[in-house]
Amino acid sequence: MKLLVTGGAGFIGSNFVRYVYKERPDWHITVLDKLTYAGDRKNLEDLDDSRFTFIHGDICDEQTIDKAVADCDAVVHFAAESHVDNSIRGPRLFLDTNIIGTYEVLEAVRKYGKRLHHISTDEVYGDLGLGSTEKFSEKSRYDPRSPYSATKAGSDHLVRSWIHTYGLEATISNCSNNYGPYQHVEKVIPRNITNIILGIKPKLYGEGKNVRDWIHAEDHSSAILAILEDGKLGETYMIGANGELDNKTLIQTILELMGKSPDDFEFVNDRPGHDLRYAIDASKIKNELGWQPKYADFKQGLTQTIEWYKQNEDWWKPQKAETEAKYKELGR
Ligand code: NAD
Ligand code: TYD
Repeated sequence: MKLLVTGGAGFIGSNFVRYVYKERPDWHITVLDKLTYAGDRKNLEDLDDSRFTFIHGDICDEQTIDKAVADCDAVVHFAAESHVDNSIRGPRLFLDTNIIGTYEVLEAVRKYGKRLHHISTDEVYGDLGLGSTEKFSEKSRYDPRSPYSATKAGSDHLVRSWIHTYGLEATISNCSNNYGPYQHVEKVIPRNITNIILGIKPKLYGEGKNVRDWIHAEDHSSAILAILEDGKLGETYMIGANGELDNKTLIQTILELMGKSPDDFEFVNDRPGHDLRYAIDASKIKNELGWQPKYADFKQGLTQTIEWYKQNEDWWKPQKAETEAKYKELGR
């Protein structure tokens, strides 16, 4: 198998590449990545050249993606602008990469008749609201509410229509919030772990009541591999690990695990249009593909993640000041 991974130098992509490299020793993996602020070549530096190739390029560039797709057997498409707050500050880049970029990937995959797996998010389904026990499933209605989720929804619709119209051999997965090593310090868990390491108070948006459904990036990776190998073509799979938690409890848990008082955080401005709750019903992938998450205990996964950020200051320090400067402008 010659696997092409777009966006493989980012957080989840690099976790996935390392996972596949370990689990499928006879596969060759090529990563195509633009190395935006969110991508880092160092995330993949321990992979051997005999089984791994890196291409520095943009999925929006037709010739680059065409050549990369021609040389592979299957594509896993992670490349995206991924942060909601950035999409509120400047939506344009999200349209370029998430929509036009996905269009270019689809056209190349169609031209060469290759297998595609498209990575998406539960955020395309909108907001479940607090006080309900409803969860997103494969049958949920699309209802994106931020520029990020709208462009991801747009990319899902393109993939669905290429499957329907051109018979593209593709699958889609919509996953909940990921955590784990190599996540950029703009996202809530690494931002606030690194704040605590630096003696800065963790920041809680609004009243801290918003709920996210957490899954470890390694569990997301094992689910993607299961779909790539055994998923039914044309289908969508929800991926989640029953990790629902409100943001206040999340921040207080991080504080406790780092030996601080659980009240040592500060409230900051809320995000405009802030979705209240996401939650995933992952019955389909569990029943049909026998997939199960390994990190059932969130506190254990979080403890390992905190340890990773403590041990890898060299990795995150260079991004920290610039990220916090952006947040300062927003009062967050
Ligand atoms: P990330 O921002 O950490 O990584 C994105 C990667 O894509 C980076 O390496 C970046 O350099 C690359 N990239 C961006 N634009 C590109 C372009 N035009 N051409 C080539 N490469 C480009 O994101 P992530 O958190 O790892 O998310 C990866 C995927 O998973 C995204 O599609 C995202 O929507 C999806 N997803 C993320 C989460 C989450 O919790 N982070 C949850 C569900 C789904
Ligand atoms: P984030 O990691 O940006 O992921 P997403 O917006 O894709 O869910 O944010 C997760 C939640 O945490 C979201 O409800 C916003 C909130 N949040 C904070 O409370 N404090 C922070 O410092 C950040 C970055 C986010």
